Amino acid sequence: MVERASGAVLTDTEGRQYLDCFAGISVVNAGHCNPEVVAAAKAQMDKLVHCSSYLYHVRPTADLAEKMAQITPPGLTKTFFGSGGAEAIEGALKIARLATGRHEFIALQAGFHGRSWGALSVSGNQSRKKGGGPYAPGVAFAPAPYLYRSQWRDRPDECGRECAGAVEDVIRFATSGDVAAFIAEPVMGEGGIVVPPPNYFQEVKKVLDRHGILFIADEVQCGFARTGKMFAIEHFGVVPDILVSAKGIADGFPLSAFTTRMEIAAAYKPGDHLSTFGGNPVCCAAALANIEFMQREDLCGHAARLGEYAKSRLQDLQPQFPLVGDVRGLGLMIGIELVKDERLTPASNEAEAVRDECLRNGLLVGLGGIDGNVIRFQPPLVITKQQIDDAIGIFSRTLHSLSL
Ligand SMILES: Cc1ncc(COP(=O)(O)O)c(C=O)c1O
Repeated sequence: MVERASGAVLTDTEGRQYLDCFAGISVVNAGHCNPEVVAAAKAQMDKLVHCSSYLYHVRPTADLAEKMAQITPPGLTKTFFGSGGAEAIEGALKIARLATGRHEFIALQAGFHGRSWGALSVSGNQSRKKGGGPYAPGVAFAPAPYLYRSQWRDRPDECGRECAGAVEDVIRFATSGDVAAFIAEPVMGEGGIVVPPPNYFQEVKKVLDRHGILFIADEVQCGFARTGKMFAIEHFGVVPDILVSAKGIADGFPLSAFTTRMEIAAAYKPGDHLSTFGGNPVCCAAALANIEFMQREDLCGHAARLGEYAKSRLQDLQPQFPLVGDVRGLGLMIGIELVKDERLTPASNEAEAVRDECLRNGLLVGLGGIDGNVIRFQPPLVITKQQIDDAIGIFSRTLHSLSL
């Protein structure tokens, strides 16, 4: 049971400390209890906690909307605020329908977009969907650009092209041609840190443009400096039509957003969409302080540099541990896929054992992947090089001690 935390270190109720390399599922990018974020939230609490930004104008909410227009890709200038990621996904799906007058969606196998019914309907992950079906009709799934498990493992360009080509096939064979939007995580989180080949989204965008289909980028997990850019889609040279964010937006305060172009936003008239708590002034004040901290401290640069360092140190472990099949990632969003053999049989039990033993050894890591065989390394972005070394030391000793 956790009692308090600071930066990348958690302390439990017995006073034991843990190095946090999961950041509350990729949330506290600016560190646990970042003093600047906490101070901004406290100051706002003395002034105004709630009045619903739908009823009255609220300064921190307006300022944050302005900030989102500055930091999101060009042309995305209007933001709707909610409280959680799934809620923002729902709002983005709905506005895509209203703006296009179309009704179907294309999503990716292994993608994940949240636990509400609409969000699960566009999620391609049975372990998250089980027990909740049947899901919404009108959703078709395209293959994930999952290089490591594709037939083009050493040919990323071909993998990108073929997987993008499959989107065209899905439109043709699995929809009625009434597709409002394609939704995808620029880098998959729950699906096991799947980084698409560099050409993938450009190729997909060509397909979407041919059919007048909007692109919704789900940056809930990969956004806010996590991958070394403020938003992960910036690595891929395309601009989405709608960008959804949450998690890292306010360093732990519950807030989410979707940001889009003016003409798409105009599909919502006042009152068409509403969230009582959305755009809460305390959360927005925290988000503003959070983003200012990220920019001033260059968390993007820090995540890019330390991410490359961590990835190469983890890759160095591969020859010693045949179980470590693949180490991949962007910035400080790193996945370590554990496999049993050359046929890449998922080592799911082993991954769970590694995660649990790391915890006993004072290191928190996450688990992901369709088969639960990917260790997720997503620390607060304020983590130091020394802490990365310590974490990798614990991780490799844990692999040794489990004789993996
Ligand atoms: C990519 C992605 N989208 C959406 C969500 C849903 O966010 P929330 O749990 O805040 O509803 C998540 C949560 O893990 C996510 O990783």
